[in-house]
Formats: sequence, C-alpha cells, structure tokens
Amino acid sequence: MAEVFVAKVDEFPDGERRIVSSGTHEIGVFHWQGQFYAYANMCLHQGGPACEGVIMHKVEDVIGPDRTWVGQKFSDERVHFVCPWHGYEYDIKTGECAADKRLRLKKYNVVRRGEEIYVSV
Ligand code: FES
Repeated sequence: MAEVFVAKVDEFPDGERRIVSSGTHEIGVFHWQGQFYAYANMCLHQGGPACEGVIMHKVEDVIGPDRTWVGQKFSDERVHFVCPWHGYEYDIKTGECAADKRLRLKKYNVVRRGEEIYVSV
C-alpha cells in the first residue's frame, strides 16, 4: 500500500484540512481535536468536492419537556463538513452522511511518521 505525504505536523494546525492527490483520487485530510481523519473528496450525492466545504457543528433540534419544538442549537459534540455543491453534510470523525446514515465517504488511514503525516492509499 502506498503512502502520500500530507504535511509536517507543525504546518498542519488543529482545525485545518489538506487536500492531497494520488493518481485520479483526491483525499481530504482533517486535523480535528488532536486526531487525523481522511476521506475521499468525492461527495456521494453528485461527486462534488465534499471535503472542501465549511466545517461546522451539527445543527440539532431542541425539544421541550412537552415534546414540542423549541428551536435549534449547535451540537457540542458532533461536527460536520458540508459539501459546497448542494449541502450534504458528513461527520468529521466517521465520514457518515448526516442525511442518510447508510452512506459513508470512503475512509483512508492516516499515518504519522515522526513529524510528518501521510495517508495510506
Ligand atoms: S454533490 Fe455534494 S451535495 Fe451534491
């Protein structure tokens, strides 16, 4: 299995992403809360560059004690990146599609070698 260089650790701050290429494949690599995650940069909807969209906390409905809708808030735990073409959202830690949990972006292993980050392809 080949490895593609992503970045030096000190040049890839937490909260940022990098897009790398291997042959015809593009891979989005996220550094999030001390962990690295990598996914195919190809949206499951119509092939858009899913990993290049905005990163935001999941928007959740707030339901009151009487079971009525009270409003919405940003999740404290779940974070998504949003495909810039039509808005499909993906969980940054799993690649799971928020709209259809049966769908998941292809995931790649991220390897740290000393002070460098690689993705296995
Ligand atoms: S191609 Fe990503 S939401 Fe449509």
